[in-house]
Formats: sequence, structure tokens, C-alpha cells
Amino acid sequence: MSNEPAVGRRNVALAVTGASGAIYAVRTLAALLEQGCEVDVVLSEFGRRLLRDEMGEAAAVDRLPAFLEERYGAGVRKGSLVLHSNRDLGAKLASGSQRCEGMAIVPCSMKTLAGVAHGLSRTLVERAADVMLKERRRLVLVPRETPMSLPQLRNMVTCAEAGAIVLPAMPAFYHQPRTIDDLADFVAGKILSVLGFEHHLYPSWKG
Ligand SMILES: Cc1cc2nc3c(=O)[nH]c(=O)nc-3n(C[C@H](O)[C@H](O)[C@H](O)COP(=O)(O)O)c2cc1C
Repeated sequence: MSNEPAVGRRNVALAVTGASGAIYAVRTLAALLEQGCEVDVVLSEFGRRLLRDEMGEAAAVDRLPAFLEERYGAGVRKGSLVLHSNRDLGAKLASGSQRCEGMAIVPCSMKTLAGVAHGLSRTLVERAADVMLKERRRLVLVPRETPMSLPQLRNMVTCAEAGAIVLPAMPAFYHQPRTIDDLADFVAGKILSVLGFEHHLYPSWKG
């Protein structure tokens, strides 16, 4: 997997925060890389912990490229991955002048959701999301919480009103998934679809 940006590649940002569902994050990241994307990745402190807690030490952030290739195959080498510190509010994602066309926060914690809903921009994740909203680019939020409080529900409405797509981590069962990977493929596929990618992560419904 290259970490060099390439001219003409699609450029998407992927943020990982501390809600449960690391498998959705790694599957989405692998799928974007398989598409040949340049992916700007930002992890919150709890997002970093989440990768290790739910996927094991092999998925620790400094080993992520090797982990993705081992788990999903050499296809991930088609893309490039650039890692940013969540504290770096001067990173390229903090500005609307950069070419990043869309962003997904997978999974999106209720805390980060609240920060995005209220435009707080305290971290690079929140600022990059704010940039997507102000520039009218695609922002996909993948919350995972249950049950939900009224403030949490309201924050989702606020984000949707501002133009974000709220795509809860809710896999479907009509395609008869057999494994956890099938469930993760479904959610990752939904995310890629709303970001405008064609994919074969789940079979389309034939009627
Ligand atoms: C074991 C554990 C599981 C958690 N699961 C969730 C969750 O599923 N959804 C959620 O919104 N927050 C969850 N949280 C809370 C967030 O991790 C916490 O609010 C954190 O501050 C989020 O920070 P971040 O948005 O900067 O990553 C969990 C926390 C712990 C310790």
C-alpha cells in the first residue's frame, strides 16, 4: 500500500471514534483502498483504543496497513493511506481548500456526534466534519448506540438538517449473512454507496 498521494485518485477522509464497531471501520477503510482511493485517516484517542480492543493488537494504528493487507488481501495496495493526528488542527483536512471530496465517521460516538452537531471543531475529526458541512460535501455519520437519549436523537436530526447522511450501523439480514464479516461488508457497502462508489460488498436486491 502506497502512502503517496496520486493525481486523479479519489480522495476521501475516514475518521474512527470510540463507539463500538471497529470492524465496520477496518472494512470500510479496506474497501476504499481497494477502490484505489487516497484515504485520509484520523482516529480519536478512543478510536485508537477501539481498534486494539475489538480487533486485537495486530490492528493497532501503527500496524494498520499490514493488518488490512493480511485480512483483506493485496487489493488494498491499490489505494493510499495518510494518517493524521486528531490534535493536528492544522492538517489539510482542517481547510475547505483541500480536495477531499467526502468523509465518513465510522463508527461515530455520541460524543463526536454532539460535537459535529454543534460545530465545535475541537479536534481534527470534528473540524474536518465541519469543513464537509460548510463546503456542502458529503459527510456520512455511522452512529452505534442503543438505546438512544433524546439529546442523541436530536443531534442526529441537527446533523441531517445540516446536510450529513446519518447511516446507523444497522446491518440487514435479507441477504442471509452467515458471518460477522458479511455484516461488516453490508455496512461498509452502504457507506461506499452513499459516497458514490460502485462495489460488490453485498448482493443487490433482485426483487
Ligand atoms: C467499553 C466502551 C464502549 C463504548 N461504546 C460506545 C458506543 O457504542 N457508542 C458510543 O457512542 N459511545 C460509546 N462509548 C463511549 C465513548 O467511547 C466515549 O464517549 C468517548 O469519550 C468518545 O470519544 P471520541 O468521540 O473522541 O472517540 C464506549 C465507551 C467504552 C469505554
